[in-house]
Amino acid sequence: MPFRKLLQGVTITSFFAVATLTLLGVPTAGAQAGPDASKMPWMNKTLPPDQRADLVLKQMTLDEKIQMVRGAGWGVLRKGSPVPTGSNFGAGFMAGIDRLGIPDINLADSAVGVRMAAYQGRYATLLPSTLGAAASWDTESAFLYGSVIGRELRAQGFNMSIGGGVNITREPRNGRNFEYAGEDPVLAGTMTGNLEKGVFSQHVMNDIKHYAVNDQETGRTVVNVLLDKKALRESDLLAFEIAIGIADPSGVMCSYNLYEGDHTCENDYLLNQVLKKDFKFKGWVLSDWGATHSTVKAALNGLDQDMPGDDNYFSEPLKKAVEDGQIPKARLDDMVHRILRSMFAAGVVDNPPVRSVVDPFKGRDDAQHIAEESIVLLKNADHILPLQVAAAASIALIGSHADVGVLSGGGSAQVDAPGGNAVNPQPGGSKWGVQVYFPSSPLKYVQKKSPQASVQYIDGGDRGAAANLARSSGTAIVFVNQPMREDRDAATLSLPDDQDALVDAVAAANPNTIVVLETGGPVSMPWIDKVKGVVEMWYPGIGGAQALANILFGEVNPSAKLPVTFAKDDAQLPHPVIPGLVAGSSIPNGKHPPFDLDYTEGAEVGYKWFEAQNKQPLFPFGFGLSYTTYAYSGLTVDDAQRKVHFTVRNTGERAGTEIAEIYVALPAAAKESYKRLVAWQRVKLAAGESKDVTLTIDPLYLSVFDTAKDGWQLLPGEYKVMAGASSSDTALHGTLHIQP
Ligand code: BGC
Repeated sequence: MPFRKLLQGVTITSFFAVATLTLLGVPTAGAQAGPDASKMPWMNKTLPPDQRADLVLKQMTLDEKIQMVRGAGWGVLRKGSPVPTGSNFGAGFMAGIDRLGIPDINLADSAVGVRMAAYQGRYATLLPSTLGAAASWDTESAFLYGSVIGRELRAQGFNMSIGGGVNITREPRNGRNFEYAGEDPVLAGTMTGNLEKGVFSQHVMNDIKHYAVNDQETGRTVVNVLLDKKALRESDLLAFEIAIGIADPSGVMCSYNLYEGDHTCENDYLLNQVLKKDFKFKGWVLSDWGATHSTVKAALNGLDQDMPGDDNYFSEPLKKAVEDGQIPKARLDDMVHRILRSMFAAGVVDNPPVRSVVDPFKGRDDAQHIAEESIVLLKNADHILPLQVAAAASIALIGSHADVGVLSGGGSAQVDAPGGNAVNPQPGGSKWGVQVYFPSSPLKYVQKKSPQASVQYIDGGDRGAAANLARSSGTAIVFVNQPMREDRDAATLSLPDDQDALVDAVAAANPNTIVVLETGGPVSMPWIDKVKGVVEMWYPGIGGAQALANILFGEVNPSAKLPVTFAKDDAQLPHPVIPGLVAGSSIPNGKHPPFDLDYTEGAEVGYKWFEAQNKQPLFPFGFGLSYTTYAYSGLTVDDAQRKVHFTVRNTGERAGTEIAEIYVALPAAAKESYKRLVAWQRVKLAAGESKDVTLTIDPLYLSVFDTAKDGWQLLPGEYKVMAGASSSDTALHGTLHIQP
């Protein structure tokens, strides 16, 4: 190719940068030199993405189209698998069409930060778990969260994120709950949608996963979920519908499991009828890694791209099926169109990633801010918190490596820790199954906040020694954890490794005991009455220790509220034992015998289950304390506009932010024995201040899914409106009338 031709469409500097990097063997994702732009009308940025995609499609050969609907293999994810040329060493890669100026797609796992940075000597910010971030109920924070991920992906040379998990917490022991956004479809969908909007804001393609009802890891590749369509649409799929509506994602990743007899990646109902027709999803469906099971059935039933592409379903067999007419050419074009239009829409063609040094300071500050909004104060007897520096002359910190770091979640959401694992650092990246602590030391920041106090740490392995230290200290803070990761559920809600006994021992030795939880999701707390304080910090990310210290010492007034119900024990759950779990053994997912999982609880997930069953949980959904108090008054409802109005007052002596929640119980005709979360607002209030809150209720959140009519229906009648501080504390009541 003549030099001049190569230069067209690229600036001289970027051309030389690309050329130099190519000479050095460094992949230049998304930054390939574009050939003759004058002959490529689709490079006209003013045209709509769909039109640009169609213009490209017209030029493409059958082989080129086939190339785009499959990945190029497991690459770095699997030892011995070749890494395709152009791969940026992420989880997935699709080769672009150079002659048409269509860049490669380099996909990176990035649920809570960018994965696999270590192997390339890169840095990635670990954000709080998305479940934790959902506890902020703050859509701006969610957007910020996504923009941190997008910014760092771009700097590392990636042009697509494959985070965006929005599977609701139907199974509280699910190993991946930490990378999702809680049990309520409206909260989870809203938070995840805004997060993915943040990713997209950085010209990085975004994703929503794992579609659908992939609610547990036990037997995830063989489990056949049974759940009637009405309940499905009103629970799991509603979270996807909302997230997809907000984020307008480039991709939706179908999951490993089956739904009603068909794998989700070849499920006509889920993919064609619901996702593409009802949700009007314009992007492409990519399979979870290895979740494609056929060629013709998958393609006809809605799968657009096989990932990572080793299975060969979408290579030669797909080409042959198109040539034979088993798959219409128009369907293949639709698959490719969806990918191309998403690339144009996100800007990865016009504005490809530019490699830069990730800003670790900005990332850490953002992570800390999100953590401060995510940490939930669950118990605060005798106002033990915030800690008074004078009163806490000696503080014992016990357990969970609180001297060196904070825990992170594992699996494909694992982020590599700067400097390596804070506990037993080893060179290289994180290893699957090894718990990784990030170097954000609670000990260091507690010490900083109370320079006059004697602050000591003990690991908790010896309960007697821990109790002795607690006994001789003014305050004892016990850190307990629940490590969670992909491909494995927690067998029970109980904390592992005898940590309950550790809390018991410490609480018996010191009446001023505070427990700090680092958990992937809800856990049971048999010691709850024996301790004065409980703080849930989830997996808090790289700014976690500073955020925690700010909360413990009152520099930040906690405002977060639980996005999941905390049951008292496993017996309270719809499935007291995880379906498919074989006691005492964890069968590797690939070897699990197939089984049906009948979600008999239907849409009664989380707080809805507890309310319908009249059970009292340990901590209800939407619950969280503050160092101040709030009062609610004056609820009025405007029927015509579906507006709810009320006043929140800060009745205490500190400024704070109250998350005011609105729930609605549907008319009797809906036959629902629970209320639904329909709206909320974070209300920032100075001490003594009052603010009026007006919220409009989205009719979708009030609707029932009518299976016979295959659509949503807003029933006429009286809706009971409740506003307050949590799902079990709704001080204000009113009525919304929906006319026939
Ligand atoms: C996970 C996905 C992930 C993919 C690529 C799968 O095992 O379920 O969430 O994106 O691997 O790493």
